Amino acid sequence: MSERIRAAITAVGHYVPEKILSNKELEKMVDTTDEWIVTRTGIRERRILEQGGTSELAAPAALACLKNRGIEAGEIDVIIVATISPDMFFPSTACLVQEKIGAKNAWCFDVSAACSGFVFALVTGCQFIEAGTYKKVLVIGSDKMSAITDYTDRNTCVLFGDAGAAVLLEPSDDPNLGVMDHRLYSDGAGKNALYQKGGGSLNPPTYQTIDNKMHYIYQDGKSVFKVAVIGMADVSAEIMKRNNLTGADVDWLVPHQANLRIIDACRERMNLDPSKVMINIDKYGNTTAATIPLCLSEWWHAGKLKRGQKVVLSSFGAGYTWGAVLVNWSIDPKS
Ligand code: UT7
Repeated sequence: MSERIRAAITAVGHYVPEKILSNKELEKMVDTTDEWIVTRTGIRERRILEQGGTSELAAPAALACLKNRGIEAGEIDVIIVATISPDMFFPSTACLVQEKIGAKNAWCFDVSAACSGFVFALVTGCQFIEAGTYKKVLVIGSDKMSAITDYTDRNTCVLFGDAGAAVLLEPSDDPNLGVMDHRLYSDGAGKNALYQKGGGSLNPPTYQTIDNKMHYIYQDGKSVFKVAVIGMADVSAEIMKRNNLTGADVDWLVPHQANLRIIDACRERMNLDPSKVMINIDKYGNTTAATIPLCLSEWWHAGKLKRGQKVVLSSFGAGYTWGAVLVNWSIDPKS
């Protein structure tokens, strides 16, 4: 029998727009304070894409990733974009990225799993590599959350930001390195706690849906907080147990960046030292599908993510959707 092919992340890249929206600026827009936002969420500022759609975040992230790997776009077999703020319902944002970067030989589709979009897309991409069908799969998490955020609603507008980040999946050159395990979950009973009510086939856009602000994100923050704390901690603990790992064995937790308090609860449950948690929520807020690959790319660029390290990715989001992925990191640190 031939040996099992393992998928590995072989390159990372990211893009954040230049425009910064600070808590101080939000104080002028809605009834909020920098102090409330920082203590309740950990967010200090977020980035805003002024022109163009989500593909304008995804494409530069993809190109950065290819550059870091030193390959041409034409070598990509598959492009998967995780997003809930696609440029349009169709064609897929992945097709738009394909055209923008010139990945002529790739076939392309989007994955919709909100804040868990990247981990769901990553696991999907791994299947193509592990099956031996494809050799180079580009997985991108990208969201222009500012396009669906109501900047008169203090409950949500302080939370979200725009970013894109990408990873390349290829067959691993070492069976002990790569994407080792995953646990993914969904529970549609959470559908009304975090959603965009209008614009789809249930409530197609009308003057009324616009007047009722149904095209914006709605979140019952408290309800989501309660299940997110449990869901992210449980699934992270589960993946550690399945792989006989203690807090001492894990080198990095890469949590979805929705709320610093949720991240802390997850870290405590995993019994991890705070220095092992990737946190950039202060700079970018919640960029939905982009948070986890954005962390991976920033930490790799900073030379802090090293070959052989054990990395746990963990997310919770709308749906509900949640999951964790264990990665034995396979790229040498950026020198
Ligand atoms: O990424 C996908 C998954 N999403 C999440 O994981 C997010 C989960 N939820 C959360 O992170 C938190 O629930 C929030 C950050 C959204 C809110 O924090 P909270 O501690 O749960 O606050 P709350 O919603 O219970 O609101 C507490 C108070 C309320 O006032 P009253 O009713 O006590 O008078 C809110 O109206 O804080 C008020 N409030 C604000 N005050 C100042 C809500 N938003 C703001 C604001 N500035 N921006």
